[in-house]
Amino acid sequence: MNIILLGYMGCGKTFYARKLSTIINLPFIDFDTLIEQREKKSINKIFHENGESYFREIENNNLSQLLNQNNNFIFATGGGTPCFFNNLDLLNELGLTIYLKKKPKKLYNFLIKNNYNRPIFNSFKTIEDFFNNFNYREKFYLKSKVIIDCDNSSNIQILTKINNHYNENRFKK
Ligand code: S3P
Repeated sequence: MNIILLGYMGCGKTFYARKLSTIINLPFIDFDTLIEQREKKSINKIFHENGESYFREIENNNLSQLLNQNNNFIFATGGGTPCFFNNLDLLNELGLTIYLKKKPKKLYNFLIKNNYNRPIFNSFKTIEDFFNNFNYREKFYLKSKVIIDCDNSSNIQILTKINNHYNENRFKK
């Protein structure tokens, strides 16, 4: 069974997926890295040279291709992945989707300091743009199979929760 971590930019999808892969010994796929390798350019460059709609097309194409692969990996999506086309359905088909839920204010404070390679965050002109985007996207994230509230938990507690959900679900059809 695959574990799919999703949530807004800066919620720690890649961080927790990488850590978890060493704990439970499953391969880790970071979707942005996979796209960068296939396109042979950075996410920023793809957005600048080809535009967001091109990025969303390749996101959707690559996701469909992953469905044909063998199971058993940990997958960190991009923040926008579940919110375009039929991606959320594809993700729910691909495995155990887990929304890493964090308060938007916390995410904003993190992103202000760590916005490198995040063209969508950099495109916001006001803090309202950020909150509107978060509110729109959260409706998709909330359709994940599992929701983990990360606000008052340490990294170890969050990893333990993900691992517990994995163990509960791994033998289910
Ligand atoms: C995006 C988030 C990024 C990356 C791309 C678009 C988004 O991933 O996929 O810049 O639309 O939220 P992270 O969530 O890992 O920053």
